[in-house]
Amino acid sequence: MVPLHYGIVVQFFLQTGFLTVLNCSITKEDSSEMFVKCFMTILTLFVLSGNALARGDGQAGQIVYDAKCKICHGADGKGNPPIAKTLNATLPDMTSPELQRKTDDEFKKQITEGRGKMQPVKGLTDQQITDVIAFIRSRAKS
Ligand code: HEC
Repeated sequence: MVPLHYGIVVQFFLQTGFLTVLNCSITKEDSSEMFVKCFMTILTLFVLSGNALARGDGQAGQIVYDAKCKICHGADGKGNPPIAKTLNATLPDMTSPELQRKTDDEFKKQITEGRGKMQPVKGLTDQQITDVIAFIRSRAKS
């Protein structure tokens, strides 16, 4: 018997603009089983793409870091001494275990609200903040 195909095309328009197209064919005989498999695949992809966004992209984060943080925090994350002197502040070592122990939420708050001698950093999207945090995490001393 000729199977009847239904095409389900799911498009994931992610924030970054790329899309995933998934095509599932369902045969008439066992359409409910196929539908469940298809649904689970879509769900898995959705969760995976969500996780990728939540984790942040360290490479994209480096671009943000270089543009918005490097001037004070230094290319190596250990602080730019002349800036520390000018601000009369102690810049934390981003690679240190003490700093890395802070949570992502604490980092986010530091970036958006500032604290101590650091002013809030303006003009960053949530995704850019997530990415720059991923970049800082990637600098952790191993
Ligand atoms: C104008 C200089 C300047 C810029 C730009 C800057 N910071 Fe800071 N940052 C500081 C100073 C100064 C401190 C120390 C604050 C204090 O404790 O007084 C600090 C502290 C921090 C801390 C440590 C907070 C803590 O809890 O100890 C983090 C994390 C941080 N900055 C992240 C960032 C990120 C990410 C960016 C870029 C998006 C950024 N900073 C941009 C000056 C800067």
